[in-house]
Amino acid sequence: MKAITIDTITQAVINHGDGGKTHPRLYEIYTSLVKHLHAVVREVNLTQPELQEGRDFINRVSRHTQLIPDGEIHALTDLLGISELVLLLQDINSHATESNLEGPLYVSDAPERQMGDRIGIDQDGETLFLSGRVLDVNGKAIANALIEVWQPNSKGLYDIFDPSQPVGNFRGQFRTDQGGNYRFETVVPSGYDVPADGPCGEVLRLLGRHTWRAAHIHFKLSATGYMPLTTQIFIEGAPQLDSDTTFAVRSNILKLQKHKSLPELEAQDQSKPFYSAQFDFVLKHE
Ligand SMILES: [Fe+2]
Repeated sequence: MKAITIDTITQAVINHGDGGKTHPRLYEIYTSLVKHLHAVVREVNLTQPELQEGRDFINRVSRHTQLIPDGEIHALTDLLGISELVLLLQDINSHATESNLEGPLYVSDAPERQMGDRIGIDQDGETLFLSGRVLDVNGKAIANALIEVWQPNSKGLYDIFDPSQPVGNFRGQFRTDQGGNYRFETVVPSGYDVPADGPCGEVLRLLGRHTWRAAHIHFKLSATGYMPLTTQIFIEGAPQLDSDTTFAVRSNILKLQKHKSLPELEAQDQSKPFYSAQFDFVLKHE
C-alpha cells in the first residue's frame, strides 16, 4: 500500500481487512459505502473546510437532547428518503398493503375503543367515518386483528405536543369483528410542519426545502399468523401530497366522500357536513 494515489486509495481502503471473512454482510455494505463516499468526494472536489463542516454536522445530528433523546439521525434518514427507500425495497412483489414510516409519535398504550367509537375531541374538525376490512392476500377476512391508529387533529397537532388535547386524543386500539371489519369516527387530519430548529432544519432551509408533512393517519396492524404492518394513509387532495418532506406518499390514498344532504346528516346524527371513506388493509402470512 505504498505510494497511494487518487486512483488507488479507494481500493486500498476496501482491501484493508479480511475481505468479509469475519462479517460478509457488513463488508458488503462497507465496501459499497466507501466506493460511493469516495465518488462524492471526487465528484464535488470536496475541500478541507467543507469536510470539517460535514464532520460538525454529523456531530450535531448525533447529539442527544432532552427534546430529541435519540438525536436527529432518525430524522435525517427520513429527510434523505433513505427510510422510505428501505421500505420500498422491502415491499417489492408484496401483495399486502404497503408499509410506511412509523414516525416518532407512536405510543403503545392508546385507549381501547369499541367498533364505531369516535377517537378524539375536536370542535373545529370535519367528522370522518372511516371503515373497512382487514384481509389476507387471498381476500379472506382476518377476525380479531388489532388495529392501532393515531393521527393529528384538524390543526395538525398530536395530543402529546398539544396541552389543549386530552391524553390519548385521536389515538385508539380496535379489534376487527368476525368478518374482519373495523369502523370508527374521527376528524379529517391536517398536515403539519415537522420540528426544524435543529441541524437538519438548518440544512433544509439552506437547500430551500420545506418541512411539511401531507395530511395522514398512522396505523399499526397485527394478527396471529400474519406479518405486522405499520403504515400511513394519506388524504386525497391534501396540500403537500406531491412534496411530503419525508417522501412517504405512495399509493395509500384515502378518497373522502362528502355528505351534506339533510337525509345523510340525519342518518348519522350530524349537524354539519361530514365525510366517509373506506380502506381495506391486506396482511401477509408469516
Ligand atoms: Fe404523523
